[in-house]
Amino acid sequence: MTSQGLRASLEGIRAAKTALTDKTLSQHKLAIALGITRQPVSKFFAGEPVSRSCFVQICQHLGLSWQKIAGLPEDRISELTATSHGNNRDLNILVQEIRQKRQDKIQDQCGNLQILDIAQAIPLVDIYTIVYVLEKITSQRWLEMGDLLKEFCFESGFKRLEKDQISQKLSGLEAVLLYSKLMILGKPGSGKTTFLKYLAVECNKGKLQPNLVAIFISLKDFAEDFKDNSDFSLLKYISQEFLSCGIEAESTLSLLIEGKMLILLDGLDEVQMDEVNEINKEIRRFCQTYYKNKFVISCRIAAQKYKFPGFTEIEIADFDMQQAEVFVKNWFVAVAHESRENGEAIGNLFIHQLNLPENKQLRELAVTPILLHLICLFFQEKSEFTFKPAKLYEQALNILLSRWDEMKGIQRHSVDCNLNLANTKKLLAQIAAITFEQGNYFFDEEIIQPLIVQYLTKDNEYCHGSSKLLNQQFQDSAKLMKLLEVDHGVLVERSQEIYSFSHLALQEYLTAKNIVLNHQYQSINQLVNHITDKRWKNVFLLTVSMLPDAEAMLRLMKQKIDFLVAHDQKIQDFLLWLYQKSNSVTTQYKPGAIRAFYIVCVGRSLEVFLKGSNFPQHQVFCHSSSYGLERAMIGNLAFSPELAIDEFLTSTFACAGELEFACNYILNDAIVFDYAHALNIAFDKALNLVVEPKFKQFIHNLKKQLPNAQSNHHKFRKWWIEHGKFWNERFRELLVKYRNICHDWQFSKQQIELLQEYYIANKLLINCLNTANNIKPAIRQDLEERLLLANTKIKK
Ligand SMILES: Nc1ncnc2c1ncn2[C@@H]1O[C@H](COP(=O)(O)OP(=O)(O)O)[C@@H](O)[C@H]1O
Ligand SMILES: [Mg+2]
Repeated sequence: MTSQGLRASLEGIRAAKTALTDKTLSQHKLAIALGITRQPVSKFFAGEPVSRSCFVQICQHLGLSWQKIAGLPEDRISELTATSHGNNRDLNILVQEIRQKRQDKIQDQCGNLQILDIAQAIPLVDIYTIVYVLEKITSQRWLEMGDLLKEFCFESGFKRLEKDQISQKLSGLEAVLLYSKLMILGKPGSGKTTFLKYLAVECNKGKLQPNLVAIFISLKDFAEDFKDNSDFSLLKYISQEFLSCGIEAESTLSLLIEGKMLILLDGLDEVQMDEVNEINKEIRRFCQTYYKNKFVISCRIAAQKYKFPGFTEIEIADFDMQQAEVFVKNWFVAVAHESRENGEAIGNLFIHQLNLPENKQLRELAVTPILLHLICLFFQEKSEFTFKPAKLYEQALNILLSRWDEMKGIQRHSVDCNLNLANTKKLLAQIAAITFEQGNYFFDEEIIQPLIVQYLTKDNEYCHGSSKLLNQQFQDSAKLMKLLEVDHGVLVERSQEIYSFSHLALQEYLTAKNIVLNHQYQSINQLVNHITDKRWKNVFLLTVSMLPDAEAMLRLMKQKIDFLVAHDQKIQDFLLWLYQKSNSVTTQYKPGAIRAFYIVCVGRSLEVFLKGSNFPQHQVFCHSSSYGLERAMIGNLAFSPELAIDEFLTSTFACAGELEFACNYILNDAIVFDYAHALNIAFDKALNLVVEPKFKQFIHNLKKQLPNAQSNHHKFRKWWIEHGKFWNERFRELLVKYRNICHDWQFSKQQIELLQEYYIANKLLINCLNTANNIKPAIRQDLEERLLLANTKIKK
């Protein structure tokens, strides 16, 4: 051994030559395989000194012990181990030097992000949001359908932005420190590339793993070079990359042998299908040879079934609300070029609006960074969420199905199936519509495949030019299924072999799209049959917003609504009363809105009388505080004296009902007193507004009959139990006589449920009317005028 390196002994050279022949290699091929020049290899076989790292490398490749080839006696081997400490010091100096040389390259390669629909590259540090990972891969869970359904809640979709239980998550950086071989899985646009770039930048700055040198490799680029040149290898790729920064191959090799690199292999899913096996093999070989280094590979979650030995798999977690907030604030500064102060303010506004109940579908999309970016783009236009959701969903689909790939120059395997973007959407729309109709948010592979076969058979014109596809429908349906999952991430595997759409919002959108694509009486009619099912609300709104002319649909909705209550005489009588009562008040509002107002008033009194029965209170058709229907028609109901009187009187009557319930069923006197107090307040407000002298006098007298609750709770309760029922009846008589309100309708539980459905369906109709495109004023007026009318009045 010399201070410069090691030389092979005569015995060693002989052994090496034999190994070379055994492996059918030449010196030239060996140099290529090692990614080094021919010179050190020739020197090795000539018994001349070569660098220690090169020497070890050659021996390892030939499967020989380097110590033996160098002919080192045992004591020299331990001496060598001792000097390795000194070598370590040298290595660390080398790491620092190389990092410096790599600085510009890393910055150029990883320091900026090319963002969808944004012309300029954005500095990574300005936009980066901390990444969390899950140590349990969702698709590898063995949950049954029932378990998934238990986790699922229609109201919140598969996963909406929420304050997450951080405890289940690990920060991405921690995971990198924890595991030396990491496979990061994630959905399209979930931030895999961004995270790997961030690791490269941070490592090169010395902030992360300061004793390592980072290299970021796009596997798509590598595979392309690999294809052109069969001698190509990861080692060669890295050597060339380092050489371009002025780093000699020998130094590169030393780093690799000593495990001084952080090797980031991005986008395994972006490698073309026919090259995947070769690339997998090369990665495996490379990782095994240079096992001392740290490796991070990224891949789409569904794409990789091959497991690299020794790798730990983790999954990028969806964004939670805190991450979204940081992202959005950074976005408005870095991407929209607002000042920090403005950016934060817009970000706060964004998050506030995103949290409103009506934006729950957007919250579901916002868990995916690329889709959150899209929502920011839409929001930027108007500083509010007033855009048409259907447009956003269409864009989101386009991103997942093609645009995100196109931007990166990736051709997915879809081309094999001859399925273009429009047809992919049609197929997805059919799958969505059928599964949504069946109420299936999760489905087995077996459910989807026949749908795909059916699609291929029925719509074979979509697959023209591919007769092979038609002949092999069954095999190809499996292939298509994978494609929809792997290539696009629109379908995801939630547990082993159980699928769902990536976002419930997209399933709803695609269901609506399917209706619009088959825009026929039958499909609209089928939709309208779901008018009372709140699960379908979004599908209605999305459909109506996409139909070029929604008049027929709105009219059909109106017909179904009227039909709902057409055969119930009591409800028809009630609607007649509603008509008469609403016509009797003088306001400037539309009659339909006034009817909506009074139906809510009735709902309140019903609510009270349902107390004590088993009927859940929240199911009363229009809960006290919601005046949703007339608000949808005329905005907030402004002050109108007549309406205000009836509202306060109804409240008072409702309070009396509450009191009745409390006195009879609640033991605690203090609670009874609270109700009595509420009744007093409501009564005074109503009295203040009433002008009709006789009526005012009567109800004034009625109020005077009430004993003072404050002085003696117990006595008050006793009085009420004895006289309350009668008092309430008297109050009702007065309200009926002087105001024509608070009738005792004596609805059955079924009738109340029906009225509730009727109210919700009407609200949906008005929301659809407000959402539809190009509705002629005359049609709007017609529908509004006929809202909440009894059959006899409609037909007139
Ligand atoms: N951690 C993050 N911080 C900020 N933006 C992110 C982050 N992750 C992803 N993004 C945004 O989402 C886009 C898609 O992310 P990317 O990493 O390319 O996804 P993937 O590689 O998983 O398909 C990025 O261009 C960026 O706009
Ligand atoms: Mg990527």
